[in-house]
Parts: sequence; structure tokens; C-alpha cells
Amino acid sequence: MTIRVFEDTEQLASAAAEAILDTVKANPYSLLCFATGNSPVRTYQLLTENAFRENIDFTRCRCIGLDEWVQVPRTNSGTCYHLLREQLFIPLGIKESQILLFDGMAQDLEQECSKMNSFIQAQSGVDCIVVGIGTNGHIGFNEPGVDMNLQAHVQDLHESTVKAGAHYFSQPTVISRGITLGMTQVLGARKLLLLANGKSKAAILRASLQGIPTRKVPASFIQQADHAMVLIDKEAASELYQ
Ligand code: F6R
Repeated sequence: MTIRVFEDTEQLASAAAEAILDTVKANPYSLLCFATGNSPVRTYQLLTENAFRENIDFTRCRCIGLDEWVQVPRTNSGTCYHLLREQLFIPLGIKESQILLFDGMAQDLEQECSKMNSFIQAQSGVDCIVVGIGTNGHIGFNEPGVDMNLQAHVQDLHESTVKAGAHYFSQPTVISRGITLGMTQVLGARKLLLLANGKSKAAILRASLQGIPTRKVPASFIQQADHAMVLIDKEAASELYQ
């Protein structure tokens, strides 16, 4: 694991966008996996701006979503489906045929998980994954106590995730479960970018990056991923030991 601390969100986002672009430049057929949430928003803006400016071709890559709320229709502007389309897929000109996102409304969620697992396997794994971290140490919807060996699965959401999740919705929306890639898939990605900014992430970053790895803090296993890059701003890094 490499930790890089930036002066501000702008510099952090610029480095993250470059790392994603480098993946696509090196292999135009890359499988890319994206989280939503606040942490990657500026990264995605810079990624689309820089891709356009540098004329980087995204037409051959494949894209998947890290997670999705269960039982929230895709028409809801707080879904990962909606956000990824608006923030990335439409601006980058990525076609439906290149994308696989969890359908949180699917009747058979197990099948939804199997579809995602098979897709990742068929692409020989994820080339680059962009994740955030919850204040409870979750990655995707891998909540505290999760089985680290799981692949895609459905997860009951932690109370703090439900509370934080409410901010993503402009209309009252009931959220209680999520569908997510498992930690084995997150940690198994060939390039892993964990993005975090702001004081609210400082304590959990200390536990995740400098505490003993434990299932109680799923993100703490990132310490064991040599290839992981943790990109954080000064405020988020403010509780790390020197
Ligand atoms: C969202 C996701 C979540 C967020 C995490 C941090 O797709 O996977 O795990 O990354 O909750 O959220 P923000 O970035 O809004 O602080």
C-alpha cells in the first residue's frame, strides 16, 4: 500500500484521474470499476476533461459499478446507476454495451451477483477500481464484520451507512440493503485507488491504515494490498501517526 497525501481535493483528484487514464492508455480493453459518493466526484470531472483533451479512447474498455442500493428504482437520482451515467458514462461516451451495473430492483439478486462475478471472471479481473471509504470503514457496501472471502453479495446496511446514504437522495428514499462487489474482488483489482478527503474521514483512515487489520474495519485489509494507492488530502490524513 502506498499513501499519498495532497494539499487539497483538487490535487488529489488530479492524481486519481491520471492514474485511471494511465490504465486505459496502457490497456484500452481495461475493466474499470467505479464507486459513487462524494469522494470521487471531482476525480470523475477531471477524468472526463482530461480524456477529452488528450483524446483517450474509452470505446473498448468495460465498466462496472462497485455497488447499488437494493429496492431503489434506477429512475431515482441517488442511485449509483444514475450517478455513474451522469458523472462518467455519458461524458466519456461509454455505451450501454460496455457497462454492467447491479440492478438493485432485480427479482433475483443472487443471479445479479452471479452475473457480475461471471463478467469479472470473463474479463480476467478488474484492472482499475476506484473506491471511497465509509466512516465505519466500509468499502462499497462491505460493512463491518463482512466475510472477506465473499464475491458479489447482498448486504444489510449498517446504521451509519443508512444515515450517510440519506444525503445522496433528493427525495425520501428507504434504504436498508445494498448489493456490492466483495472485498476479495476489491483487493484483487490490479490497480486499487482509495480516495478520501476531509476531517470526517481522519479517524477511520487511522484505524484502516495504521490499525491491526480486522473484519470490524473492512478497509483495514488494504494494508495487505501491495498495489493499493491511498490518495487522501491533508485533513483526512490529520490523524495518521507520523
Ligand atoms: C459508494 C460506495 C461507498 C462510498 C463511501 C464513502 O458507491 O461504494 O462505499 O464510497 O460510503 O462515501 P463518500 O465518498 O460520499 O464519503
